[in-house]
Amino acid sequence: MHTVWTFHSAASLVYGPGSLDRLGESLRTIAARRVFLVTDAILKKLGLVDRVVALLRAASVECQVFDEGRAEPALHLVERAVAVAQPFAPDAVIGLGGGSNMDVAKFTAVLLRHGGRPHDYLGDGKIPGPTVPVVCIPTTAGTGSEVSGAAAFTDTDRRVKVGSLSNWLRPAIALVDPDLTLSCPPKVTADSGIDALTHAVEAYTAVDFADFPLPAGERSVYQGRHPLSDLTAGRAIELVGQHLVNAVRDGSDRTARDGMMLAATLAGMAFSNSGVALVHALEYPVGGATDCSHGEGNGLLLPHVMQFNLPARRAEFARIAGCLGAKPEAEEAVAAVFRLQEAIGIPRRLRDLSVREEQLPDFAEKAFALQRMLRVNPRPVTVESLLGIYQSAY
Ligand SMILES: NC(=O)c1ccc[n+]([C@@H]2O[C@H](COP(=O)([O-])OP(=O)(O)OC[C@H]3O[C@@H](n4cnc5c(N)ncnc54)[C@H](O)[C@@H]3O)[C@@H](O)[C@H]2O)c1
Ligand SMILES: [Zn+2]
Repeated sequence: MHTVWTFHSAASLVYGPGSLDRLGESLRTIAARRVFLVTDAILKKLGLVDRVVALLRAASVECQVFDEGRAEPALHLVERAVAVAQPFAPDAVIGLGGGSNMDVAKFTAVLLRHGGRPHDYLGDGKIPGPTVPVVCIPTTAGTGSEVSGAAAFTDTDRRVKVGSLSNWLRPAIALVDPDLTLSCPPKVTADSGIDALTHAVEAYTAVDFADFPLPAGERSVYQGRHPLSDLTAGRAIELVGQHLVNAVRDGSDRTARDGMMLAATLAGMAFSNSGVALVHALEYPVGGATDCSHGEGNGLLLPHVMQFNLPARRAEFARIAGCLGAKPEAEEAVAAVFRLQEAIGIPRRLRDLSVREEQLPDFAEKAFALQRMLRVNPRPVTVESLLGIYQSAY
């Protein structure tokens, strides 16, 4: 029985349309003079990198741009970024982009301070102390990495997604400007948006912190649901219900973009304290073995996991159904997510991602190893129950 809970986020959050213009002012609060900017070629082409560089110049901050970021980044991309950053000796690292670039920025900051290889810091609580300060500027409304203590990569050798959890991975500053998502194409909006919903649903239905099955003497960033994760997750689900379909259908809808960005950040605050659970554990092997995006894999699996968890969280699922505009009954939540998948174009079945049925037992074994996520789930699982969920989604 636990009686104490904690809440962690980015040390400071600057939110709102136009907030990017506060970059120079924000950097002064952490006394940053030389920044390493992790971003990618798409954002460069859109002119966003130039805009950020101009803001840095206006603030007399020196900058080195690393624009080799890629979606679902491999661990060796971090090694490459560190090799480029080291001679420049930055005093802060900026992650500009979706979760992919933000996570590369976070791990670059870890390695710049602590040395070693990215592999040394995978898992729960492996980062020994503060990193070079990180500033996250999200350009998707999805991962919540701008406030989270998590980073995720693709282990291309083992063909599985891998992650790291530590409160030392929380950014010093989250600069969250929903206007930066106006250029997201519908697929990026849909995939990242349903990832945010997955974070919120997993947080909202997580095991209670008082019952969190953490072995005695261990600490985890994840601690089960508690009053503040509930508050942020519940609001995030409402916002997704109001805005995700609109944001996918009309990318220039600034109200929808703002609603989804706030949803993603709130969901990040929620899941990075309560934890994510079964959907994420099941997605890691799928994401490693196929080229689907993290959001696509989660969005596909989400209603199947909700169905599995239904008996353990009926009241919560009824409220989720209401937030998603359906009748407030538990089963309706599952149906509402299936309808949302359809409306925003998330693939319906694992076979649509070119998964082969004979891969499922191996996926179930790999997912079962992810105890840091499974223990957050409101219903205990076995390898057999994981396989059953994969089969229902196949
Ligand atoms: N650290 C965390 O807390 C956390 C949480 C969830 C997911 N993740 C990880 O984040 C990654 C997924 O991040 P994501 O969903 O944000 O997508 P992403 O960062 O992979 O970006 C997807 C694509 O969209 C493009 N893009 C991004 N912003 C754009 C914009 N404004 N306009 C046009 N194109 C744009 C990118 O260039 C990229 O090609 C995965 O690796 C996932 O595992 C991390
Ligand atoms: Zn996620």
